[in-house]
Amino acid sequence: MALKTIRWGIIGAGKIAKKFAQDLNTIPDAQLYAIASRDITRAKKFASDFSALKSYGSYEELALDNNIDAVYIATPHSFHKAHSILCLEHKIPVLCEKPFAMNLSEVEEMISIAKSNNILLMEAMWTAFLPHFQYTLDLLNKKHFGEIVKLEADFGFFTPYNTQSRLFNKSVGGGSLLDIGIYPIFVALSSLGVPNTIEAKAEQFPNGADSECDMIFHYDNAKANLKSTLTEETKTEATFHCEHGTIKINGRFHQPSSVTLTDNKGNSEIKTFDYKTIGYSHEIEHFNQLIRTNKTVSDIMTFEKSRTLISTIDRVREKISLKY
Ligand SMILES: NC(=O)c1ccc[n+]([C@@H]2O[C@H](COP(=O)([O-])OP(=O)(O)OC[C@H]3O[C@@H](n4cnc5c(N)ncnc54)[C@H](OP(=O)(O)O)[C@@H]3O)[C@@H](O)[C@H]2O)c1
Repeated sequence: MALKTIRWGIIGAGKIAKKFAQDLNTIPDAQLYAIASRDITRAKKFASDFSALKSYGSYEELALDNNIDAVYIATPHSFHKAHSILCLEHKIPVLCEKPFAMNLSEVEEMISIAKSNNILLMEAMWTAFLPHFQYTLDLLNKKHFGEIVKLEADFGFFTPYNTQSRLFNKSVGGGSLLDIGIYPIFVALSSLGVPNTIEAKAEQFPNGADSECDMIFHYDNAKANLKSTLTEETKTEATFHCEHGTIKINGRFHQPSSVTLTDNKGNSEIKTFDYKTIGYSHEIEHFNQLIRTNKTVSDIMTFEKSRTLISTIDRVREKISLKY
C-alpha cells in the first residue's frame, strides 16, 4: 500500500536548509511543499531550486498553511525556541535544528508547549540516526572490546572570523560550543552518559563568542577529552579506547562515515556503510514514520536526550563563563 506523502515546510532559507531540501527530495513518500524566508525573493529562488510548491515571505504565513504535515526549523540557534513554538501552536509537528535552544529553560518551554498541544517535536540531531553511529553504540553496549577507558572526540574547522556570519555572531548563539562542540558532547553522553564532573576552558573571539573549547568529562572509571574549534581544521574523529582495543569513528564522525576496529594485538578492520545521501534522509525518514504512526515523541532522539544534551552544554558554559 502506498504511504501517505508527508508534506514538509522549511523555515529559513540558509545553508543547512539547502542540504536538508536536497536529501528530502530523495525520499519518495515525502515532499518539499513550502519554504519560508524573511525575504520572498529568497523564498522563491529556494522554491525554484528545490521544487517547493509554495514560497512564503514570512515564517508566520507558512505556519498558517493547513496543508503542512511537518516543519523543519533551520534558523540560527537563538530563534529555535520562538520558531518551534510558532509552529507547535499552529499544530504542525516540528523537527528543529541543533542546538534545540539556547539553554535548558528554553528547551523545557518548547517541550511543555509540544506536550500541551499534543504535537510531535524532535531535535534534529542527525548523527543519532546514522547507521555507522548506531553500529558503534551497539558495539560499545555489547562491550565488544570491554569497557570504555577513554573517549577522544574533536570537531574543528577554520573559517575566517566574520561578525556578519551567524557562526561568529554571539547575539544569535554563535561560537564553537553550540555549533559544533555539541557533537563531541553528544558522543560522550551517548556512550558514557552524564559526567560526574566537567573541566572546560575556552578561547574567545574579540566579540566574546568562543573560538574554541577544550573539555574533560570525568566518569567513575573513564574520561572523555572533547574539543571544538573554529580556528583550525581537526580530524573530527571519535575514538573509544577500550580495555581490549579501540573503536574509531573516522572523520568526520558526525556525518556519514566508516568505523575502524583495532584490537590490542594490532589486528584492524574497517566497517563501511552504504550511504546514498548527505545523511539528513535518515532523520527525515524517522520523523515521517513518527507522523504516520501518530507519535508525539521520538524513541531515538527522546526529550530526555535533548534535555541532557543542553543541560550538559549549560554546565560547560558555566565553567567557561559563557553567557548569552
Ligand atoms: N545538522 C547539521 O548538520 C547542521 C549544519 C549546519 C547548521 N546547522 C544548524 O542549523 C541552523 C542554521 O544554520 P545555517 O548554517 O543554515 O545558518 P545560515 O546559513 O545563516 O541560515 C540561517 C537562516 O535563518 C534565517 N534567519 C532568521 N533570522 C535570522 C537572523 N537574525 N540572522 C541570520 N539568519 C536568520 C535566514 O533565513 P531567511 O533570511 O531565508 O529567513 C538564514 O538564511 C543553526 O542552528 C545550526 O546549528 C545544523
